[in-house]
Amino acid sequence: MIALGCDHGGYSLKVEVIKYLEEHQLAYKDFGCYDTSSVDYPEYAKKVAHSVADGECEKGILICGTGIGISIAANKVKGIRAALCHDCFSAKATREHNDANILAMGARVIGPGLALEIVDIFLNTPFSNDQRHVRRIAQIEDEE
Ligand code: RB5
Repeated sequence: MIALGCDHGGYSLKVEVIKYLEEHQLAYKDFGCYDTSSVDYPEYAKKVAHSVADGECEKGILICGTGIGISIAANKVKGIRAALCHDCFSAKATREHNDANILAMGARVIGPGLALEIVDIFLNTPFSNDQRHVRRIAQIEDEE
């Protein structure tokens, strides 16, 4: 199950992500927001981050205008590794190296074509399990 969340700035791109997930028959839980009325992104970041951290959802996708605020907020939740990605290389690397469990994007930064390629890579790239990366993730967790 994929947890989805956005603010008003990310709503239009979240609609495109939902179409992608439905076309690929991937289950999702949409934590809002549900239209373009102005809201505060931390609320949606926290809902998605807790759902992933608690194991209800396996991964999450968060979208705001830039992707910055919503990723900062998500990364405050213990166990969350939210990666802000606006290119395919970073999306692949953050799965392989960081075992990122939330993808953050900015709807005012990239278009839907590239964003959906990034989503596809993020959802389909496994963690490398390389010991160097396992060790570095453990060092991040030491600080939590
Ligand atoms: C909302 O206007 C905007 O600040 C938000 O979507 C995001 O870009 C924050 O980081």
